[in-house]
Amino acid sequence: MAGFRRWGVAKFTKNPESSFKILTAVLVITLYLLIKDFSSPSVPISKRDSTSGARIQYGGWLYGSGYEDVEKAEAVRNAMRYSFHKYREQAWGSDDVRPVTGETLNSRNGWGAFIVDSATTLVLMGLWEELALSVQHIVGIDFTTTPSLVDPFETTIRYIGGLVSLIDLSEAGIVPGDIVTPEIRAQLLRQAVTLAQALGPAYDTPTGMPWALVDFELKKGVPLHPESQPPEKATAQGLARSGSAILEYRVLTRMTGDEVYAKNATVAWAPLVWSPWSSALPGIVDGPIDWVTGRPVGRERSWDAGFDSYYEYLLKITLLAPPSDQQLPDYAQRFFQAADSLRTVLTTRTTPTEQHPMQHIFIGAQNGNTYINQMSHLACFAPGTILLGATHHNHPDLHAYAIALLEGCRHVYTSTPSKIGPGGWNWHPLLQDRPHITPRTEEQTAQLSALGFFASYPRYELRPEYVESLFYAYRITGEQRFRDWAWEVFQGIEQFCKAPYGYAGLHDVFRPRHTDFVVEQGAWQNMQESFFAAETLKYLFLTFAHPDVVTLDAWVFNTEGHPFRMIR
Ligand SMILES: *[C@@H]1O[C@H](CO)[C@@H](O)[C@H](O)[C@H]1NC(C)=O
Repeated sequence: MAGFRRWGVAKFTKNPESSFKILTAVLVITLYLLIKDFSSPSVPISKRDSTSGARIQYGGWLYGSGYEDVEKAEAVRNAMRYSFHKYREQAWGSDDVRPVTGETLNSRNGWGAFIVDSATTLVLMGLWEELALSVQHIVGIDFTTTPSLVDPFETTIRYIGGLVSLIDLSEAGIVPGDIVTPEIRAQLLRQAVTLAQALGPAYDTPTGMPWALVDFELKKGVPLHPESQPPEKATAQGLARSGSAILEYRVLTRMTGDEVYAKNATVAWAPLVWSPWSSALPGIVDGPIDWVTGRPVGRERSWDAGFDSYYEYLLKITLLAPPSDQQLPDYAQRFFQAADSLRTVLTTRTTPTEQHPMQHIFIGAQNGNTYINQMSHLACFAPGTILLGATHHNHPDLHAYAIALLEGCRHVYTSTPSKIGPGGWNWHPLLQDRPHITPRTEEQTAQLSALGFFASYPRYELRPEYVESLFYAYRITGEQRFRDWAWEVFQGIEQFCKAPYGYAGLHDVFRPRHTDFVVEQGAWQNMQESFFAAETLKYLFLTFAHPDVVTLDAWVFNTEGHPFRMIR
């Protein structure tokens, strides 16, 4: 506008008629800019991008089928609105609200985890008023001080991931320009950099694998269990803690031009990717690992809790980074080796019973030579991630396996009266005489014969992994059944988890309204972690939204559900 006025004035002011024309032109342009801002689509659509080399999503949707399921998407959006406004009334600025009692909770260093973690969900849902409030708050957070120790893993995936994703979504034109102005964008990036710099001491180890915790005041790393013996146990951790910063830090390096982030994240997982220690299973890294020496101190082999996102990021970095990146073939090879080991060794089939003649496949683990016939809800991320990898890298052999895994996750969901799956379960693997874990209660014994599995951890903590995999399955195959399955889950959440101040987890998915509790509220857990808004509601929404909203052909999600643009 400044340039326009200058030449306008210089050239035309002598002639009154021209002045009038100029005035009209200025008015028209001002009006246009105003209208343009207000009419920016409420549903953000980023069209398939010709510069992106990936073709992952199903492309055969015809005549509107597969496009937005308006009613169901709106129902999920309303759940997000409810969750946001209850949090806002009760706990604005704290990390979380307690959904049953309305108290506040600071479990993530008191930086307003809910606000930072839910912002990208607000963007994709087009909840602009809520987003404007959040962005205003985010730029004012003081990330340099906190009353507690800082967990680099959680902080990277939730806070840094949330911040850089918000910037990426703005740059893709999905966020209205008056909410993230160029100044706000700079402030958001400064926040991410401040936090990443404060986390820097995490990487001050002989191997570059991060400490489990950082003391912001002393600016040094702290072990998780300092008293453990022998000492290498105190400095040992699962793979996920070293292997889950590469996506966030590559994006931060792209945005700042500072190589230190990409470098630190690469060094941090190098002892896993290029492990000099052999494992019994190709592609699998034994854990936990002592981050002082980089050496495994245990012989656990798993894709489950503590190990999961290392394998997830091995694949996702091959989508995020430019194809010319020289390390990508190594990452892809390690991922597919690990996926094959998962399929051929760690996955087992259930033993059919008279009452339940069907078979299902579940993901177990190994500890040395012992097979652990236990799966947790977290491992239900695997079907989606493997399907993503199988599609992008053209491994059709893994396609059917991923869908079968997803059907296993669905089975534990549909087996309960709440239609929500438990946090952990066990089964008797077919053709294995001595299962490691067997039922301990009558109820578990009854479940095993009626359902083919029994719940060892009957809680639902509002976790996303199953609906996350349903989202990938829908976007990749285009099959309606995955939308239907996601809707079943959402209805269960609405019916059983909606609480006075948000959404609450369930103590026992088999007793969503437990009569043993004095009040009905006793069925609830008084906890709503920020991943419910960041992931569970986001993946449910995206399953019903227009498939071009953050298409998998151009976006990669971090392990907290924050989308990053592919760099092509
Ligand atoms: C990068 O790693 C070094 C240790 O190698 C550490 O001193 C530094 O603080 C880290 N910086 C960041 C931004 O992570």
